[in-house]
Amino acid sequence: MSKRTAIVGATGAVGTTMLSILEERDFPASDLRLMASSRSAGRVIPTKWGDITIEDLATADPAGIDVALFSAGGSRSAEYAPKFAAAGAVVVDNSSAFRMDDAVPLVVAEVNDAAIKSHQGIVANPNCTTMVVMMAAGPLHRAAGLRAMAATSYQSVSGSGQTGMDVLTHEIDVLGKDREALATGGWSDPISDLYSRPIGFNVLAHAGGFTEQGYTDEEWKLVNETRKILDVQDAKVEPFCVRVPVMVGHGIAATMFFDRPVAIAEAKEILADAPGAQLWDDSKVPTPLDSAGIDDVLIGRVRPTVGEEGGISLWAVGDNLRKGAALNAVQLAELL
Ligand code: A2P
Repeated sequence: MSKRTAIVGATGAVGTTMLSILEERDFPASDLRLMASSRSAGRVIPTKWGDITIEDLATADPAGIDVALFSAGGSRSAEYAPKFAAAGAVVVDNSSAFRMDDAVPLVVAEVNDAAIKSHQGIVANPNCTTMVVMMAAGPLHRAAGLRAMAATSYQSVSGSGQTGMDVLTHEIDVLGKDREALATGGWSDPISDLYSRPIGFNVLAHAGGFTEQGYTDEEWKLVNETRKILDVQDAKVEPFCVRVPVMVGHGIAATMFFDRPVAIAEAKEILADAPGAQLWDDSKVPTPLDSAGIDDVLIGRVRPTVGEEGGISLWAVGDNLRKGAALNAVQLAELL
């Protein structure tokens, strides 16, 4: 049955990917509507469903929409998602505005699909880093019960939207021509303060803003969303979120312990069968570039823990704009 569909934030890094994924997957959209800010209103976007004029979210009438995919930032979601839901749409929201709301399911397609049934008009799409690691942690948890996970992310700049990609491109262009400065340090980007320091040719050992206990909001998302998605409130999660000069693709190095020891052979068997994931062996360790533009999350470096025995360490990398955001949102719309 066709669904009257809207994308809110349709001009952004995730929104444009949502549109191409709807097209690729032959989503049964009818009356597709595209919304963004007043800056983009009036622009015409060619789509499989014809040329569509961008509407200004502030003045758009939400009546008559069945499914609305939101990725226009948390404050837009907080203001408009309830209005769209009240007008009869089911909102799949990519922001963090509702993720920890008890009345809103937080769903990774192919990990906790059943949770979507309890929605009351809004379904939350998890954080892009959490999503990628859940594609490995979810199946292992189902088999053995996740007890603890230490996870370090290597997050690409597209997690900060179009602006992040613009900043990286600019800095690589400017700094790449100045090897002397790169070797001696002390350089800065006169144009952008999106990140605390230049991201080109650099690594920032924090992603997001600092909040409680010296952890960033990105890190708390990894803790709280993991517990909600896997429904294990007492799982111990140690997060460390790092921004790296990669355009697309978030990598996560994780060590997990379960309610019982998990043998490496069992872990590999589970991961090889995991839907939406590919298990790669050490002959070709997956990189963000391998994951960019594809749907599957790539899992590699699977090995037994060498300190406390019985755990599993692994590397998972996924396209943060696709499975980490737009693809999962479309999969949730398909589930609906
Ligand atoms: P616009 O392009 O008109 O600014 P990204 O995360 O890649 O930066 O994308 C953010 C998305 O959210 C864009 O589609 C952007 O539209 C949209 N957006 C930003 N601010 C607003 C706003 N005040 N109202 C509606 N959409 C907004």
